[in-house]
Amino acid sequence: MTLQGRHIVLGISGGIAAYKSATLLRLLIKEGAEVQVVMTPSGKEFITPATMAALSGKPVVSEFFAANTGEWHSHVDLGLWADLMIVAPATACTIAKMATGVADNMLITTYLSAKEPVMVAPAMDLDMFAHPTTRRNLETLRGDGVIVLDSPSGELASGLSGKGRMLEPEQILEAVKRHFSALQQDYSGKRVLVTAGPTRESIDPVRYIGNHSSGKMGFALSAEFASRGAEVDLILGPTPVTPELPATVRVHRVESALDMLKSVEENYGECDVAVFAAAVADYRPLHPAETKIKREKRETMSIELVSNPDIAAEMGRRKRTGQINVGFALETDNGVENAIGKMQRKNLDMVVLNPAGNKDAGFNADTNRITIITTPGNKARELPLLSKRDCAKAIADSIAALSEAAKR
Ligand code: CTP
Repeated sequence: MTLQGRHIVLGISGGIAAYKSATLLRLLIKEGAEVQVVMTPSGKEFITPATMAALSGKPVVSEFFAANTGEWHSHVDLGLWADLMIVAPATACTIAKMATGVADNMLITTYLSAKEPVMVAPAMDLDMFAHPTTRRNLETLRGDGVIVLDSPSGELASGLSGKGRMLEPEQILEAVKRHFSALQQDYSGKRVLVTAGPTRESIDPVRYIGNHSSGKMGFALSAEFASRGAEVDLILGPTPVTPELPATVRVHRVESALDMLKSVEENYGECDVAVFAAAVADYRPLHPAETKIKREKRETMSIELVSNPDIAAEMGRRKRTGQINVGFALETDNGVENAIGKMQRKNLDMVVLNPAGNKDAGFNADTNRITIITTPGNKARELPLLSKRDCAKAIADSIAALSEAAKR
């Protein structure tokens, strides 16, 4: 899901190609984007807001005020929320209004307050497309920094054939993906190591000590770093969740804490950033049995445990200048204080605190509620409840800021 965590405003104006916007919306959502649809009054004549609201999971924005409550729809907020605005289809009329600032509908006011890049997919009849007015307006938009997508030749709604068709939804999706991957390549040339998932410590050939970690936070981090150009080594403990990861992420599957340490040791020397997101078992059975332990009518039994190596602390000792180590702290109480303690003990540059025992955060959840604490100064930044991919984005942003600050 290459658009995971991206916020997109999809503007729809009144052209026949509006029916294709439903497909575009579905493709964007399938890629993980959150989409807010904004329609012009005539856009609603071509495809219903009900369809677009159902597909996007959000009420469509179209009027300046909600008719029944008088609530004001803030185009300014949309401009701050969005990472990209796409106008598809962009009719000759909407293109003209965008070029001249005729702010008489929500789509144009949203465009005029957009802080994010804007992409238009023109769609109209061949003569309208070829008219000097449209050419001039499109040139104005290009000059204003708008990304104007191609309008290929083909059969048009009028029955004529020529240039002016809207790009197919799949092609618009490709343009959106290219846009985002070109935009943020701040990890290009960097190697990132991520540990994730639980570890399994053998008691005997059929039993183990483990935990409920799903590895989802580590998958989100790996996908985020990879999408920003990094080469990623994901050292992954045994999790039942199958990660959907970009092909550029190298996955090293391990079982126990000792296996994980070995794999981290093999990859740590080369990495620029190491994020320790795994839930490593603190102890392992001292003498795992070679054959299955029999019941033998025992009322109680004890297993002697021995401490596992602390992988993050061990790499903290090996850290060279310029390397950044990041750890996680899952805490039930005294969160910030304990997290800072861990950061110091393990020689981390950053620690990500997440609460334990919370349904919408931590193990197995798709969301997390994190506080990012960085050195120097132990500055703590508490974030609201976010998807794990949005958390990963915030963590990657903070690491990038840290390495920038270290260069100065
Ligand atoms: N960690 C590690 N190796 C271990 C234990 C922990 O690499 N053997 C890493 C985790 O991946 C995490 C950080 O250290 O980034 C903190 O892990 P956590 O389990 O919260 O802390 P512990 O040091 O185990 O302390 P405690 O269990 O007492 O809270």
